[in-house]
Amino acid sequence: MTAPSKTSVSPADPSPHVAAAHDKILIVDFGSQVTQLIARRVREEGVYSEIVPFNKAEAAFAEMKPKAVILSGGPASVLDDNAPSAPLSILTAGVPVLGICYGEQTMAQQLGGTVEAGHHREFGRAAIEITDTCALFDGVWEVGGKYDVWMSHGDRVTKMPDGFRAVAKAPGSPISIIADDIRKFYAMQFHPEVAHTPDGAKLIRNFVRNIAGFAGDWTMRAFREEAIEKIRAQVGKGKVICGLSGGVDSAVAAVLIHEAIGDQLTCVFVDHGMLRKDEAKTVVDLFRHHYNIPLVHVDASKTFLGELEGVTDPEVKRKTIGRLFIDVFDAEAKKIGGADFLAQGTLYPDVIESVSFTGGPSVTIKSHHNVGGLPARMNMKLVEPLRELFKDEVRDLGRELGLPDIFVGRHPFPGPGLAIRCPGEITREKLDILREADAVYIDQIRKADLYDTIWQAFAVLLPVKTVGVMGDGRTYEYVVGLRAVTSTDGMTADFYAFDMKFLGETATRIINEVKGVNRVVYDITSKPPGTIEWE
Ligand code: XMP
Repeated sequence: MTAPSKTSVSPADPSPHVAAAHDKILIVDFGSQVTQLIARRVREEGVYSEIVPFNKAEAAFAEMKPKAVILSGGPASVLDDNAPSAPLSILTAGVPVLGICYGEQTMAQQLGGTVEAGHHREFGRAAIEITDTCALFDGVWEVGGKYDVWMSHGDRVTKMPDGFRAVAKAPGSPISIIADDIRKFYAMQFHPEVAHTPDGAKLIRNFVRNIAGFAGDWTMRAFREEAIEKIRAQVGKGKVICGLSGGVDSAVAAVLIHEAIGDQLTCVFVDHGMLRKDEAKTVVDLFRHHYNIPLVHVDASKTFLGELEGVTDPEVKRKTIGRLFIDVFDAEAKKIGGADFLAQGTLYPDVIESVSFTGGPSVTIKSHHNVGGLPARMNMKLVEPLRELFKDEVRDLGRELGLPDIFVGRHPFPGPGLAIRCPGEITREKLDILREADAVYIDQIRKADLYDTIWQAFAVLLPVKTVGVMGDGRTYEYVVGLRAVTSTDGMTADFYAFDMKFLGETATRIINEVKGVNRVVYDITSKPPGTIEWE
């Protein structure tokens, strides 16, 4: 057994392939903003898929031996020098291939067709007309019909490679969908993976199930069983420690690992004093009483709030909290005799290597931290059983493991907690006000049955006081900002358009029920240009 020391990290098994027993689809990423949606659509068909950047696709194809390949869209033009392309080994391997947008163009060009710059660029909704039958359209589209699709391209295919036929046309691209039924190669100018192509998911289903012949047997039940086997194989008789944040991901990871190795797992829940109302109680109840999982509950609020006294800069706040987390966690890990493994709720979007066409490092908007920041200073191997899942798949797994719906469906909550929802200096008084206002707001949202429609909602306590009048008296109190967004992954978000009646009633309730607040405002900023959190 190795006591955690602040030296090095052993990365998780880089190719865990929990899904080894299942047929897979390889998605070759050319840098489209929506490549992840292709993986989503494929997984919705009960088929396991992985996304790999185009420049690593050859090795991934050889290792994964996928039963089919999808080539994503991307911002480049095949007419550019050094344009990215699909490995030829994929196009000659005899597996079905679906090309989407850029994927279509590179496929056409690489196989001997011609791509030209379009006379007019097509972005947004367009209608395509089906000109011939095709296995992609079975039960979905008919010859002669016109259907809405989402286009986003400048170039177009003007001459098809040998063996292909055109099966659809659009005003901007007479060759909109091409098919080679012998090789099972299909490609389209538009994006079937986005919701703006209403029948897109059905086209992908036809490719996956009918053309490529997948059974669709990748279910959460199968995932659970395989993940448990894999955790047992990885951990052996070792000890595992898992930091709980109160969020869904770490909770699901912990319950899954506990099912695999029982009391070889210890969970540590650090209360930094900036949690939501009743959060600590909820987590402790759930783990200790419902699941009987060994849990160390550390009240470190004094340390955190003490060190944050007078700190107003958002980045200094984040970094201070990150540093203290490590110290507290480290100390607690030592107290329980150390551990060989650190469990984390890392998700698939965190591990996908995205393709950058801009070059150079990306700008740090915020130093995101959660327990995920720990390993850099710890000498434990990582156990990351959710590395292959998207957020809502984790929720499905949580339900499969018997976590209560109300817990599984919770909105995301950031590691630094309410600290970043309290712009300016943090004090216990401000945190108490914020906790109460947030609880009223969330209660309102639940009562209006909007909680599951909204991706994330929370209150913010502004660092200003304003004048108001209550009864006959003057008040001089804080302003609460309300935030609610819809999103799929938190990378982009739209503000949620509540009706005014809801907002009015919520403001009244907050002002009446929360001492110290006399004004409420609603944040109507989307992301970009705003971020979801205020700091
Ligand atoms: P932003 O504010 O960057 O937030 O638009 C996007 C999503 O990330 C969450 N968030 C965090 N999550 N540690 C986390 O675990 C962090 O430091 C952190 N900062 C922001 C935020 O709540 C939203 O869901």
